[in-house]
Amino acid sequence: MVTICGVVLAAGQGKRMHSDLPKVLHCVGGRPMVSLVCDALRGAGVDRIVGVVSPGAQDVAQALGDGVTVVYQDNPQGTGDAARCAVPEVAADDIVVLVYGDTPLLQPETLRGLIGEHLREMRQPGGIGLSMVTATLSDPTGYGRIIRDDGGQVVAIVEQGDCTPEQAQITEINSGIYCLSGRVMADCLPRLRRTNAQAELQLTDIVGMLIEDGQRVAAIPAAAEEVLGINSRDRLAEANAVFRRRRLDQLMQGGVTVVDPATTFVDAGVEVGQDTVIWPGSYLLAGTAVGRGCIIGPGAHLAGARIGERVRVWYSTVEDSEVGDDCTVGPYAHVRPDTVLGRGAKVGNFAEIKNSRVGEGTKVSHHSYVGDADLGADVNIGAGVVFVNYDGRRKHRTQVGDRAFIGCNVNLVAPVAVGRRAYIACGSSITADVPPGALAIARARQTSIEGWVERRFGTEEDQDARNHHHGAEDKQGAPHK
Ligand code: UD1
Ligand code: CA
Repeated sequence: MVTICGVVLAAGQGKRMHSDLPKVLHCVGGRPMVSLVCDALRGAGVDRIVGVVSPGAQDVAQALGDGVTVVYQDNPQGTGDAARCAVPEVAADDIVVLVYGDTPLLQPETLRGLIGEHLREMRQPGGIGLSMVTATLSDPTGYGRIIRDDGGQVVAIVEQGDCTPEQAQITEINSGIYCLSGRVMADCLPRLRRTNAQAELQLTDIVGMLIEDGQRVAAIPAAAEEVLGINSRDRLAEANAVFRRRRLDQLMQGGVTVVDPATTFVDAGVEVGQDTVIWPGSYLLAGTAVGRGCIIGPGAHLAGARIGERVRVWYSTVEDSEVGDDCTVGPYAHVRPDTVLGRGAKVGNFAEIKNSRVGEGTKVSHHSYVGDADLGADVNIGAGVVFVNYDGRRKHRTQVGDRAFIGCNVNLVAPVAVGRRAYIACGSSITADVPPGALAIARARQTSIEGWVERRFGTEEDQDARNHHHGAEDKQGAPHK
């Protein structure tokens, strides 16, 4: 069996991005471009992947994913030089799929097609030196152009900087996706010279070299939008637009209603169940999964949110949390990381929940802060309740038993526990545990001081007379309310 080895070039600086971040770490669909490229290679079934990265670019090495062999390009001198760095990791008989880390829209099927075609051509008399993916673009500016002879055979790739005006008119471009043997790599790459306008060691020059050696080069066409190479921020935006449209189409094909694709953002790897409706202005970001029959949005911001079935989330944010079946979140709620909402729980207007477990059917309906708490089932949290979890130095937890009723404007000063079915009177500041079934009241008793107002301000008539006297000029002619 032949070994298929993916090689990803990811050591370039990406000057045209004007960024402190290495180019291949810029995200498309919420994932670093280079991670998407490696996903495509894995999806195509390669046996192993070798990544060429810049020394010290640990974050790039990490973005390649698990099990990738990392080699370093010490002093970047072009794509040919980068590819040469991978040669020691590749056996002569390996079939290499060589790709650039800035081609994030690449699909596994295209790579599989390329590999299959290359293997077929290899068995033909005379074999083949290199197969590559090309595309025809309405604006080919910046890409290497594919030069064909009169018979239509590929004979060379000419980079933008080296193009004659006639060559610059060619719209067939090099996508930077190649298939070749380890033997060809080891043979051709050391022979590259800097005889081009860029004074670089250009991988693309091996096409002309192979033709001179009497070998064949095959070109396999692909869709233009799949081979988009990202060198600048405008291309990055373009890639994100393509990615998004693609993802939304897949979701719609799977039975999801996307009310307005133009204002719906769904990251790579986010799954959405059938018959879920996504309303405009919604963001389903990395790590999110949404079950069936949900109503998401308008204005849902979900990041790392695991949402069950028949859940409604609108005008709200859910981060790194779990929301059980039949829950309602919003409008205007903020579910912060490490929260688990049990089935049928309700988090309403202006409520914030953090690092808490909320039992089934529990309601946190209005203006509350629930932090570091364990709430049982069917608990009612009144308006304006605050879980006072922070003493200025440390965070503490609060426990609330099943069916407890926490009145409006209660402070639960952690650490504290409220027992099952306990009642807490509104306005209480609870600093000691409340036994199950008890009523806790922790506020000063009300005092009403009879006649205080008249003693302080005089009679109502006195007060009216005073007001009339003061406001006489401005209030003249003012309509009655
Ligand atoms: C390259 C091709 C061009 C093709 C286009 C497709 C060459 C010479 N040109 O141009 O024909 O149309 O891609 O998108 O190959 N890299 C390194 N080390 C280096 C230089 C680059 O690892 O020394 C990596 C980069 O990180 C990048 C990839 O190689 O991921 C491609 O390099 P880039 O500079 O973007 O090439 P282009 O100018 O786009
Ligand atoms: Ca590029």
